[in-house]
Amino acid sequence: MKVTGPRLVVLPEPGAVADEAARVLLDSVGEARAAGRTPVVGVATGSTPQPLYARVAEAVATGAADLADVWAVALDEYVGLAADDPRRYRAELLRTVVGPWGLDPGRLLVPDADAPEPDVAGAAYDARIAALGGVDVQVLGIGRNGHLGFNEPGADAGRGTHRVRLAESTREANAAHFPDPRDVPREALTQGLATILRARRLLLVATSEAKAPALAAALRGPVHPDCPASVLQQHPDVLVVADEAAAGLLR
Ligand code: F6R
Repeated sequence: MKVTGPRLVVLPEPGAVADEAARVLLDSVGEARAAGRTPVVGVATGSTPQPLYARVAEAVATGAADLADVWAVALDEYVGLAADDPRRYRAELLRTVVGPWGLDPGRLLVPDADAPEPDVAGAAYDARIAALGGVDVQVLGIGRNGHLGFNEPGADAGRGTHRVRLAESTREANAAHFPDPRDVPREALTQGLATILRARRLLLVATSEAKAPALAAALRGPVHPDCPASVLQQHPDVLVVADEAAAGLLR
């Protein structure tokens, strides 16, 4: 397949980004069904995709979409939180995706961050995704440091799901959810860049000026481990939906 590079849609504000991204997500689900597959949607956590998830939930609530056959596959999970900690990404995805979209909770896959052997758990996660037929559309956010999933700067683009140490800047960015910043986990299990690149379609959403330098480095800079999201340039079907603030350094 010819690699043409990421397509970019710039919209005035985050609400329009959510509308467009929800349309693409639901189209991707329809394409998977038309091809005879059970749809598999990769879901990022974090604040950027929340309006998108809410739009999809609205489509389900009004009967415009039915996602009962969809599998949801998480991008990553913190290591070291208690099983019932509401900040676990499994818990977040149950609240923001599985419930509102009417999915079967048994159809949510999250990396097993409690496994004694992370490498085994990572390989098992990638094998489960493959057994489902692969991810049809993977929703992604981008870190201010250019991370994708929790693949921090310096990440090896050849790796599958594996355990990582979080960058201090990532821990600071995520500290709002923890009363004491020291409680932010130091490690996570993340889909590796190789796992992410195996999805049929990547849908990156980026909003706010804070993301502008990372987005510019990812799309206009060299493909280099300093900016993990630059691997997007190597995938044949990437759609970046950004608001004008996030796209501000692209023109
Ligand atoms: C989330 C994830 C991260 C976030 C990124 C942006 O599962 O893996 O890569 O997508 O940190 O987060 P927000 O959207 O909160 O700015």
